[in-house]
Amino acid sequence: MSLKFLDQMDISGKRILLRVDYNIPLDGERITDDLRIRASLPTVEYCLSKGACLVMCSHLGKAKGVPDSKYSLAPAAKRLSELLGRPVAMAPDCLGPEVEKMVAALRPGDILMLENLRFHPGEEKNDPEFAKAIAAYGDIFVNDAFGTAHRPHASMVGFVTYSKASCAGFLLKKEWEYLGQTMENPARPFVAVSGGAKVSSKLGVLKNLLAKVDRMIIGGAMANTFVAALGHGVGASLVEPDLYEEARSILALARERKVSVYLPVDFTVSVDAGKPLSEMKPAGVYPYQDIPAEAMILDIGPASLRLFAQVLAPAKTVLWNGPMGAFENPDFAEGSLGMARALADLDAVTVVGGGDTDVVVHQAGLADKMTFISTGGGASMEFLEGKELPAFKALKEC
Ligand code: 3PG
Repeated sequence: MSLKFLDQMDISGKRILLRVDYNIPLDGERITDDLRIRASLPTVEYCLSKGACLVMCSHLGKAKGVPDSKYSLAPAAKRLSELLGRPVAMAPDCLGPEVEKMVAALRPGDILMLENLRFHPGEEKNDPEFAKAIAAYGDIFVNDAFGTAHRPHASMVGFVTYSKASCAGFLLKKEWEYLGQTMENPARPFVAVSGGAKVSSKLGVLKNLLAKVDRMIIGGAMANTFVAALGHGVGASLVEPDLYEEARSILALARERKVSVYLPVDFTVSVDAGKPLSEMKPAGVYPYQDIPAEAMILDIGPASLRLFAQVLAPAKTVLWNGPMGAFENPDFAEGSLGMARALADLDAVTVVGGGDTDVVVHQAGLADKMTFISTGGGASMEFLEGKELPAFKALKEC
C-alpha cells in the first residue's frame, strides 16, 4: 500500500477539504511565527490554480472540546489571506447549518476557514458522526497537517474513512520524503545530533537512529545523564538517575553497531540552581571531569563545539533534533547557535527536526542554510522513532 499525493488527483473545479496544521504560536491575536502557514502555501496555491475551492480546517492550542475564543483560527485566516493576497472567509464553527450554507456557496477559487476542530470533542475522540459531517464538505480530502500526523484524531483518520477520495498534500509529501529518505537512504557519513532535556523522551529516537547512523553526537541536558552514567559528577544539573542503566545500554548498543558516540567534553554552568532560567547567570566553563558540586550544566562548552564541528565535517547527511543547551536564556544559547552554524557550513544534506530545534535555527538566522526543517515537533519525533503515524496509515489504507 502506498500513499497517494495531491498531484496524482484530478481536482479541477472540485471542493477540497484541506486539513492543515495551523497550531501556531500566538501572543493574543498576534502570530509570533507563521512558518506553518507559509509551509501550507504550495498546497493551497496548487488547489486554487486548478480552479478548486477550499474548505480549510485545523486545530489550534489545547481547546478542550468547547469553543474558546483565545484558540480561534481567525488570526490564521487573516494571515493566510495576507500571504495569498485574496480573501479567506472565516466560518463561525466547523459544524452546523450556517457553516453548511457557507460551504455550499463556495465558488472556484474561494477559501473558507472552518473554526477550530477541537472546539468539538468529536475531533480528539475520532467520533464517526463528527468525521462524517465534516468529510461531507469536500469532494476530496487532502491532509497536509504533518505536525498533527501522530494524533489518531478525526481529521487524521475519520475524515479519510468517510471521504469519497483522500490524498496527502505537498507538505506531508515533503516531510515524508525528507524524513523518510534521510532515515532509509542517507548519503554517508550520516551523523545524528541529538539534544534536548530528557533521555526519557528520546529513547525511541536514539535507539532507532543507532541502526541507521555512522556517528552520533549527544548534547543538551540529556548528555548529563550519559556523563553521570559513566561515573562523573554533574553537580546540581538536571539528570535522570533511573535511566543510567538505559544510557549505558545505549552506549553498548552503539559499540555493537560500530557507531561512534560523542558526548560533550566541557560545559557552561551556572550556580543559580533554583532560580528561574531567565535569571540564571553563567559561572564558567568546566571540563566534564571537574563539574563543581554546586554547578548546574546549562550549555555545552567551546571545546565541545569544536569537537562536534570536527565530527560533523565529513558528514554528507546530518539529522539534528534537540538543542544543545538552555538556549532560551541567551547566556546559554552559544552551544545551540554554534551547532546551527556548524551545520550551515557543511556540504551535506541537513535535516532539522521541528519544535525547539527549528526555533534555534531561526534564532541563528540560518534557516535558509538548512536543507529541510520539519514543521512537526511530536510528529517528527515519532517518525524518527520509526513509528507509523496514524495519518499516514489512514491515507495508505484508504
Ligand atoms: C504540534 O504543534 O505539535 C501539533 O500541532 C500537535 O498539537 P498537539 O500536541 O496539541 O496535539
